[in-house]
Formats: sequence, structure tokens, C-alpha cells
Amino acid sequence: MDTERLARIEDHFKTKFGSTPQFYARAPGRVNLIGEHVDYCGYSVLPMAIQQDILIAVASNNMSEINLSNTNPRYCDFSNTVHDIAIDTTRPFWYNYFLCGFKGVQEHLGLSETVGMNCLVDGTIPANSGLSSSSALVCCAGLATMAANQQTISMKELAEICTRSERYVGTQGGGMDQSISFLARKGSAMLIDFEPLRATEVSMPPGAVFVIASSCVEMNKAATAHFNVRVAECRIAAKILAKAMSLRWQEVVKLKDVQDAQQVSTMDMLAMVETYLHPEPYSRHEICSALELSNTQLDSMLLSQNTTHVQSFKLYQRAKHVFGEADRVSEFRLACHGAPGQGGTDAAFLRSVGELMNASHSSCRDLYECSCDELDDLVNICLKSGAVGSRLTGAGWGGCTVSLVPAERLPAFMDGVRGGFYEADPRRMHQLAENFFATEPAAGASILKHQPTAN
Ligand code: GLA
Repeated sequence: MDTERLARIEDHFKTKFGSTPQFYARAPGRVNLIGEHVDYCGYSVLPMAIQQDILIAVASNNMSEINLSNTNPRYCDFSNTVHDIAIDTTRPFWYNYFLCGFKGVQEHLGLSETVGMNCLVDGTIPANSGLSSSSALVCCAGLATMAANQQTISMKELAEICTRSERYVGTQGGGMDQSISFLARKGSAMLIDFEPLRATEVSMPPGAVFVIASSCVEMNKAATAHFNVRVAECRIAAKILAKAMSLRWQEVVKLKDVQDAQQVSTMDMLAMVETYLHPEPYSRHEICSALELSNTQLDSMLLSQNTTHVQSFKLYQRAKHVFGEADRVSEFRLACHGAPGQGGTDAAFLRSVGELMNASHSSCRDLYECSCDELDDLVNICLKSGAVGSRLTGAGWGGCTVSLVPAERLPAFMDGVRGGFYEADPRRMHQLAENFFATEPAAGASILKHQPTAN
């Protein structure tokens, strides 16, 4: 851990709270290599943790208060008692994410008295960039709450608790971000499977470098309905497909449930989409009559608070993306498995995973409609500058791309993208080093004991 950073945080903490921190909790952000918008449909994803993280300096207090401060002056201080944590979903306050993690662990532990905490948050993950700064804050807060109460919860359980509790902000996310933040291993990307949650190391051959580039379009998934609309479309598609296939559709929740019930491959599921769904958007009326639901039942069973206004749903396109993307994750994993070891990079391996990444981006853009012009431009510039694969990463609608670049082409790639995308618009040159960088798989969340610094 960067000792200068710890010393700076310790000083800030002393000034703010008049004592030294007892410990630090740390949780990393992530970049998803492939498997976008499939986790909440039950399918595996393949992310890796990045070095950028959320670090919280913590000392307990005996006033049953949560006192939060942030080293970034853009984020205001916040205090609340440890009782009756209410999360205001009407606005995306930064501390809502802390409260989610706190409340999740508090409920899980069922403690009659949760200890009060003075916390100073320091984050290095660019906000609203699709690198999971919000989930890292939820995870870090959950971990800090566990440690402050001197309890032990496994990393897997913490990932599941934080996945559920982040939904208090109103976004119906899957578990990718929280799982990688807790379960990451330094040096490996991870294949994350759900139900049951499992993380398996996937090593990348030497010579392959992943580069993250921000589109400079901010995306806060809690501030718009895009994300929840997609979740709803997938749920509805799952029910309609299951009913058309004469399965026990009332029990089906996710698209993967349909595949499991049918016991066929994801490729077969793509064929079923062609047979049973139509490309024209579905109206509420059509969905209600197909599922024998009233409008009110549709709202309460399949939609969320911020999606009840939606009148038409693209089920065919969303389901096609999900089954196709699930298949690409397996292919990517298989390719990594067969890739050369320490002996050097195999051009064929790079080409095949690069193609999978490109196909993933096209599917996100055309079928899932979660890209934007800036992301598409950036992907094209990355490919022209020497990447073998490039795609949006995270929820989309802004945020970052991830590109796979052969190591020997890295300097030319960095120059090409800098000139082609960032210098083309001077506003994008602001904080370039934070927005455009090569990354390596970092370690998952941890607790650090406080070590008094020299000063
Ligand atoms: C967000 C969500 C994740 C996942 C991605 C898209 O990051 O939090 O659960 O759905 O979007 O792949």
C-alpha cells in the first residue's frame, strides 16, 4: 500500500475527527473484459479488479453515529445515527452507497447495537466512469462495518450481502461488481459464476495488455432509468419465452432459468429467440395478454419504481444480446485456457479474444443499445491505433472502453488514441492520466491495520 497516501489520509482523519484511525478498509474498482449485462440474467462474467480503489479510514465511536467525510471536497460531510438508516433514492448522494454497505452488513449480523463509526473515504476510481466506483464504496463500507463490529463474514458472503444491499439505491444490478471487488486475485482476471457464487482465476498470457480509456461521458446508472429498463426487458423476455415453450413460466425469473429448464446450449437459445420472440417492440398490452397479467400486476411483478412509465419493450433484441454474450464469455474463457503460457503471445489467441470483444461491443451497441456515439468513436479509434479488440465496459451509455493491445504495440496505441480521441477535444485532456491507462489485474478487498506513521 502506498505509504504516502496512508499518511495523507491519517493527517486528514486526525484533523477531521481528532483521533487516529484504528484500521483501513480497501475495495477495488473493476474492468469487465467480457460478459456485459448478463450477470442479472444469471450468466457468468469475466472481470478483473483494477488498482484504483476506495480506501476508508475508520475509528469506532461510542455515540452510535456514522460520521462520514471524504478527502475529495466535492463530496459533502454526512452524519446519521446507526439506527433507522433511510436511503434517499430520489437523488444520487455519494454517501447513499456507504449506507447501503453499512445497512446490508447491519441487517446480516442482526446486531442489537451496531457500533458508531467515524470514517474518512478516499477514492481513486474516477466517478461515473463505468469502473464501479459506487459498488467499491458499498463493498468497502460493508467490510469496514464488519471489522468495526469485530465480526467475521466470508468474502463470498460479503459479496452477496453487498449485491443485495446496493439495490437500496434503486438500481437492480447483478453481482459482478461486488463479487470481483471481494474475490479478485492479483495477477488474474476472474470468471464469476452465480448461484452459487464462484470465482475462478483466468490467466492472461504475457504480451496481452488491457488499456482502459474513458469516453469522458459520465454515466451514473442510479440517475437514469436505462439500466432498470434493460433488467425489466430481460425478465419479461424470460417469462414470455418460458410460456411460449410451455415451461413453468411463473417460476422463471432470469433468462438463464429458461435455458436451464430446457437443457440446451446458448446457441440453441438464440434459435428459440428467433422462433418465439419478434423484433418489433412489445406493447404493455401484448405483454399483459401473453402473461395473463393486469397492468398493475405487470408493474408490481416485473417492473421497478422507475420503469413503470415504460410503454414498449424490446424483448427480442435484449434476449439475443444476452444469449450471444453468454456464449462469448465461454468462448473467451476457453481461448484463455488454451493460450500459451510464459512462452510468449500467440497471435491466434489474441486475434480470437479480440474478435470476441469486438462482437461484444457490436451487440451492446446494436442489440442492447447501451453504447453512445463517443464510446463508438473511441472503440473505432482504439482499433485503428492497434488494439486487437475493443469494447465498452460496465453498464455503458458513457463511461469507459477496454482494449486488448499486443504489448509491442502499446506505445503506438497510446499515441494514436491520445491524438485521435483526447487531443481532438481539449476538454478531454483534463486528467488524462486518470482517464486513459494500461491496467493489470489487482487484488480484492482487504482490511489494513493502522500502522502509526513517522510524523
Ligand atoms: C453494472 C452493474 C453490473 C452489470 C454491469 C453490466 O456495472 O452493476 O451488475 O450488470 O452494469 O454488465
